[in-house]
Order: sequence, then C-alpha cells, then structure tokens
Amino acid sequence: MMINKKWRILTIGDGDLSFSKALLIHQPASLTATVYDSLATMSGKYGDLFYQQLKLENIPILFEFDVCNPTSWMGLEKNSFDLVIFQFPLLPAFRSFSEYKQCADKLNINTLNRRLLRDFLINSFSYFIDPNGQQLCFITSKDVKPYRQWNIENALHLNTDINYLGSMPFDIKMFPGYKIRNVDRDKHVKDTKGVTYVWSRLKRHSIIDKLNPAQFLGDNYCTACRAGPFTTELDSMQHNKSIKHKQMMELERLWLADLDNSGSKVALKNDQK
Ligand SMILES: C[S@@+](CC[C@H](N)C(=O)[O-])C[C@H]1O[C@@H](n2cnc3c(N)ncnc32)[C@H](O)[C@@H]1O
Repeated sequence: MMINKKWRILTIGDGDLSFSKALLIHQPASLTATVYDSLATMSGKYGDLFYQQLKLENIPILFEFDVCNPTSWMGLEKNSFDLVIFQFPLLPAFRSFSEYKQCADKLNINTLNRRLLRDFLINSFSYFIDPNGQQLCFITSKDVKPYRQWNIENALHLNTDINYLGSMPFDIKMFPGYKIRNVDRDKHVKDTKGVTYVWSRLKRHSIIDKLNPAQFLGDNYCTACRAGPFTTELDSMQHNKSIKHKQMMELERLWLADLDNSGSKVALKNDQK
C-alpha cells in the first residue's frame, strides 16, 4: 500500500484500531480513525489497547461510525481528507438467525456487501474527501471467494463519475502490529492474497504509475469471474457452461437489478452540481 506523508487520512471500519495505530509509522499529515462498534462493544471484542495508544497520540477517533449513515458522521469535518481507507470490509455480523433470514430473503448477501462498498465510495467522495486534494479511496480485500465475487474492480462504481485506477498488493509487513479482525471474534485472520484497490475522481492521477491496471479485461477473458485468458473458443465456451460462471452471472444480474432500483447514482450526480 502506498502512503504519502502529505496525505490527510481517514480510516473506516477499523475493527480494533490496530490498522490506524500501525498507519502512524508512515507519519501521515493527519489521521482520523473510525470504528463501526461503540467503544464498549469494541473493547469487549478485542480490548482497548490500540484505542489507548491512539489517544496518547491525540488521534481523533469516532465510534459508532456507519459509513452508510450520515447521522453517524457528526464530529467529522466535511471534505477534509486526501485518502479514505477501508481495510477488509464486510457486512457486520447478524445478531440472530432470524435477522439474517429477514435480510437475506430480501437481498443476496453478495449484493449487500457490494452495496456497502459502493456506499463507501460514493459517500467518501461526496462528504469525506477534499475535492482540492488527492481524492483517493482505498479498499483492501482478499482475492479469494467470496470476496472476489464482489467484482470489485468493475461493479462498485458503475454509473458514477468515480474512476477505478488499479490495484497494488497489500503487504502487512508495512503495518507492524496490525491484526486483521474478523467481524465479531477475538481472532485475527491471515492477509492471504490481500490486494488494495484504488479509486479517484481524477482520471489521471500520479499514483497510476505505481498500480497494476484492471485485470481480466478483453475478449479472451471472463471479467466478472476473473478467468482467462482462454486460448481457444472451446475453452471459453466450457467456462461459460460452468456452474461457477453461471453463479457469477446470477450475482451480476442481481447487482444490476439492485442498481436499477436504487437512487444512489442520482445522489452522487446531484451532489456535484
Ligand atoms: C472483516 S472486519 C475488518 C476489520 C478491520 N477493518 C480490519 O482490517 O481488521 C470488517 C469490518 O467492517 C466494519 N463495517 C461493516 N459495515 C460497516 C459500515 N456500514 N460502516 C463502517 N464499518 C463497517 C465492521 O464493523 C468490521 O469491523
């Protein structure tokens, strides 16, 4: 992950604040950390060591910060960041099986996770990012199932003026002490195949030179499945007949239907006028 000392950084959904604490080693111009849980809930899950350490460094920390809900952003100065980072995003755990059933009956979990990431991008560029600054959003995720089924490089910014710029490998060694947290367990998980994906309102950004361009594009590939290159027509046909491909096409269909039904793209365009 590329971090520049001149950048004012906002972190979203930091499970135990260990990522924000580790970021300080890169001496950003400023850092504000946010946590979805309350302080009490976070401390109950993971302890409050990193919270105490950040407080000693006078880092502003906002709890119960829901990137999808503007009423939770009180206390944050509007449009004052260069970079907003969401590490290993994932829907919060459901409180009960019936809550899960209620939600999953209406919308696929894949669609809900994509919604979370799309809201993150749209709200970051509309409310958190300084339009006169660097204008960057990073999402780090794993390039394995089910995360790779979110079609991160192509699906999230559809019908917006947000540009996908490319990706870089995520090297956890750059962040000593960072523990990648499960949503609700006092366990940390491996950064297996972590990739940081980058978006900007700017089409041409100097960071592009350091990024890998979007992959699996072109006729010889299946972009949504991140498969290919197919060397023969038969290869490609066999892929299209596979269960994996059919499942992915269904997820794409559900996502496009959800976008059609939602007003989020309108919200972004209006906000810019
Ligand atoms: C897999 S955990 C990763 C936690 C942490 N970012 C890390 O890297 O260790 C996913 C995180 O996303 C957060 N999250 C889920 N929905 C959110 C939302 N609407 N707003 C902010 N954070 C959210 C959860 O609270 C959880 O901490």
